[in-house]
Formats: sequence, structure tokens, C-alpha cells
Amino acid sequence: MHPDQLNRDTVLGLCRVAAMIEANGRPRGRPLAGSIAITAFFEASTRTRLSFESAVVRLGGGVLSVPDGKVTGVAKGESLADIGEMFTGYGDVVIVRHPDPTSVEEICESAGIPVINAGNGTAHHPTQALADWYALLKWRPDLALDDCPEESRIHLVVFGSPSTMRAVNSFLWLASRFGSALRRITVASLFADPFDDDLRAELESAGIDLELTDDPASVVADADVLYMNAIVPVADGFVTQDDAVTVSASSGLRPGAVVMHPLARGAELDEDLDDTAHNLYFAQAAGAVFIREALLLGILGDHEAVASACAPIRRTT
Ligand code: CP
Repeated sequence: MHPDQLNRDTVLGLCRVAAMIEANGRPRGRPLAGSIAITAFFEASTRTRLSFESAVVRLGGGVLSVPDGKVTGVAKGESLADIGEMFTGYGDVVIVRHPDPTSVEEICESAGIPVINAGNGTAHHPTQALADWYALLKWRPDLALDDCPEESRIHLVVFGSPSTMRAVNSFLWLASRFGSALRRITVASLFADPFDDDLRAELESAGIDLELTDDPASVVADADVLYMNAIVPVADGFVTQDDAVTVSASSGLRPGAVVMHPLARGAELDEDLDDTAHNLYFAQAAGAVFIREALLLGILGDHEAVASACAPIRRTT
């Protein structure tokens, strides 16, 4: 899965199903009963694996969990394509995280069941982006209007480099679906040009005013939303980038501004923000269960209910 597969109506529809589950409770009758999800994580995770597993179990499905790829045949030299072939016989959907950007494609080549990308190296983390936009649209539902008034549009400031940070990359891909709600996007990065060509083209074609800076401290005070990340996955762990500034309760954020972070955090996000109204990052992580439930229902569950919820929003006046 690439965020390119998530158009605006799909994102809004999934958010609507997630919100219905969060507000009204889960659909009756254990809609995923009899379905098995395989979570195949070849790289460390706290939130993504557990929230997917929580989502499956809460909807009545079963989980086969691979929390560490080293316990698979990879340890004996088995290829991802062969492992993908095996998944086909054991589950109904597979959720894959891997440090190699080509991994998900390799598994897709042989897997005969749907494959969900749960983070492929530096490339993408599409379901994180869904969780991000679910949190943002709950914070400001008016951002979903396709005629969001000019005075309501937000300045989105991103600390991080989309070309190396998968969560930032996917978040910005989905930002292109909400250009009408954005006054400007400012990216603070240590790279002179942190965009891949296709992301830049996507944002520009959405009419978004893009600004780059190498001085993150200079843009904190003008942010309505500050999206931060510093972790870059590498083969045997991670490195940090773009962590030159620590954002804290005394960084001069606007009173109504919110801070988002896919977590895990490093020194860039001070714990003294946790108990302030700026903290959207814990809600972002908690809401991920609901949006992942919505996605799993769309793939394995009641397509009609999900399709009707996916009808475009039309404002009545
Ligand atoms: N946000 C995120 O991907 O966290 P994990 O690495 O803990 O899954």
C-alpha cells in the first residue's frame, strides 16, 4: 500500500467509520470472526503492531503475530517472496513492517492475500498517515470541508525530512488531499531539498504553498500544527536526523497550536508538553486503533457499510 491509493474520499470515509466506532462502539456480531490477520514485523514497533492486533481482536478476528523477523526463515536465508507465499495459506490479511523499502513489494509479488504496509524502511507508513489525519480531523473537523474558509486554513509546520522519514513522507502525501484546508506547509529539514520529485509534484498540484527552512526555531511560533519526527530507520536499528531543536512548553507555541509526533520520541519532543493542550500526539497514537479497525473492516469485513460511509461529505447549507 502506497498513500497514492488513499484518495480524499477514502481517507474521509475511513475516518468516518473510525469515528463511528469510537463514538458508538463496535459493530455487533464480531465482524472479523473467522478471519486471521498475520502481523509480520521484521523491525521493532510499539504502536503499529499492537494497535493493529488490538483492532483485529476487538473486531473478533484472530492474530498470528511475528514480532521479530529473526524468528522466521529469514534467519536461514529464506526470501521474502517465499515467506509471502506461505502467508497465503495461513491468514486472510498480512500486515508487514520491514526496514527495506522494497520489502512490501517483494511480499506482494507472491502473497495471495491483501498486504498492508506498516512501514517499509525510509519509504512509507500509510496507516500512520491515516492515524495522523484522523487525529487532525477530530481536532478540527472543518478541515475536511472542500471549501474551508481562508481564515480557517492552517499553517502546517513539519520538522523532518520526507525523503528519509517514512511517517513524514506519508503524512505529507495525505496532506495533498487537504490542500483546501492549508494556508501553507513549512518543512524544516537539514537537507537543502528534502522532497522526492513525486511528493513535491503531488503537493504543488494540490496548490499548496510550500516553504523550506533549515531554521526550525524560527517557524515554531507561526505553526497551527507542528508535526515532528527525528527517527530514520536503518537496517539494524535507527539513526536520528533533524533533531536540532527541542520543542517544549516554553518554545513559544501559539495558544491553540497542537503538536503531532508518530513516536517513539527522542530529545526533540520534551516531556513537559505531555500535560499541555498542545499535546495531540497521545490522541494520535490512541486513535490509531479505530482507524486501523476501519481499514480492516474495509478489507475483510462489511464492504457495503464501509462503502456507504465512504460517500463524499456534502455540506448542507
Ligand atoms: N508510529 C509508529 O510507527 O510507532 P512504532 O514504531 O512503535 O510502531
